[in-house]
Amino acid sequence: MSLTWSAKDHKNQNQPAAVGQKRSRNDVGNKVTVVLGAQWGDEGKGKVVDLLATEADFVCRCQGGNNAGHTVVVDGKEYDFHLLPSGIINTKSISLIGNGVVIHLPGLFEEGDKNEKKGLKGWEKRLIVSDRAHIVFDFHQVVDGLQETERQAQEGKNIGTTKKGIGPAYSSKASRTGLRVCDLLGDFKDFSTRFKNLVHQYQSMYPSLTVDVEDQLKKLKEYGERLRPMVRDGVYYMYEALHGPPKKILVEGANAALLDIDFGTYPFVTSSNCTVGGACTGLGIPPVNIGDVFGVSKAYTTRVGIGAFPTEQLNAVGELLQTRGHEVGVTTGRKRRCGWLDLVIVKYAHMINGFTAIALTKLDILDVLDEIKVGVAYKLNGKRIPHFPANMDVLHKVEVEYETFPGWKTDTSAARKWNDLPAKAQNYIRFVENHIGVPIKWVGVGKSRECMIQMF
Ligand code: GDP
Ligand code: IMO
Ligand code: MG
Repeated sequence: MSLTWSAKDHKNQNQPAAVGQKRSRNDVGNKVTVVLGAQWGDEGKGKVVDLLATEADFVCRCQGGNNAGHTVVVDGKEYDFHLLPSGIINTKSISLIGNGVVIHLPGLFEEGDKNEKKGLKGWEKRLIVSDRAHIVFDFHQVVDGLQETERQAQEGKNIGTTKKGIGPAYSSKASRTGLRVCDLLGDFKDFSTRFKNLVHQYQSMYPSLTVDVEDQLKKLKEYGERLRPMVRDGVYYMYEALHGPPKKILVEGANAALLDIDFGTYPFVTSSNCTVGGACTGLGIPPVNIGDVFGVSKAYTTRVGIGAFPTEQLNAVGELLQTRGHEVGVTTGRKRRCGWLDLVIVKYAHMINGFTAIALTKLDILDVLDEIKVGVAYKLNGKRIPHFPANMDVLHKVEVEYETFPGWKTDTSAARKWNDLPAKAQNYIRFVENHIGVPIKWVGVGKSRECMIQMF
């Protein structure tokens, strides 16, 4: 069975690949490399994916939606990706939006067209969309906002969502009233009925919600037709990729471990599994095909939105990290909250994801500090606690135990190899590596592709 990698071959290939070829027990097929956020998001996943995607055949998104904002800087040009896998920049690779992703169609096309104007070529011909992916409707986004207002009124605080409709769309999916790409491209009469029922369901919960159903259906039909050439049975497509000739397959995680619906700082999380399991369920990849799992962590910590943040620095250090690091959300333009690197959370993320290596980004932002702290343990009532707490009241109360390092006070942005880094920066990196217990494979010292020191 042959793989369909080139853009021209993708056209009208809606036939699923044949399965059931007999294989030996040891022949598990191609291994997939997964890139995941190890903190609260915005660690630089886009940059790491871009780096790896220069050699990848196939780059996939497995979860989340356009709540993600991944920045890639190539030849001085900055591209922002929200739904499109960042690997789409590599014109030799194919990108796949998997079944686990929730897709806002106007958002997808707007993003593609905007990046095309910047120089991204032929993205529509190189994008495959799973027919099982759920659709985020405009009203899901409105409901996201209404739910935030309700939370604020009832509990005095909201989540600080991106208002991209992610929570409501995954709620529709879980309550089995959601609509998928295959529904949009199937019997439109049936789709329209189910769409109207879904609108009705939300209007009974939120009487202020107004939806111009006919207008929405008209637009959805148009978007559906534009999407149709890209749509495939994602399961068979992935199977073929895994079991065809050797291929480099990359999965780009969105959001991050501490925003995971199961393992994150619930309820201040997103609505999908941003940890390694999401790569399996969101793309139909058997666990045995998972190869390297690269965790991405900043050399400090940031968080957008509400929720506990033990190492947050509401002081001059936090401000310096925010301004020097240009810590502003790519999706919402909100200032990111900043603090010291918290190794309790990175180790926790490693427990769940089994990182095979770490990319430590934005080391250069620390260049001007006199001293640098790293959170190594949490204490409650003066005693160390042995785990990362599930309960947010507890997480709000923990005191952080820090290790303090002298700053290197040297510009690292021109460093391209380990020996170019000052000894104090090397000490800092080695400490982080030993504490997490995972090798650091890359150290980031700037925005662009070449500003990534590869350690091995
Ligand atoms: P993502 O969501 O994990 O892909 O990360 P974002 O793109 O939202 O945020 C990371 C930001 O840091 C982007 O603006 C990147 O261009 C930038 N960045 C990534 N790595 C580095 C680095 O090593 N140094 C500096 N100075 N900036 C970096
Ligand atoms: P990337 O992929 C940072 C946060 C939001 C909010 C919470 C829930 O760029 O790292 P949602 O809209 O998902 O319901 O919001 O999750 N959040 C992110 N924060 N980076 C992201 O993605 C995020 N995706 C969601 O700020 O606190
Ligand atoms: Mg981001």
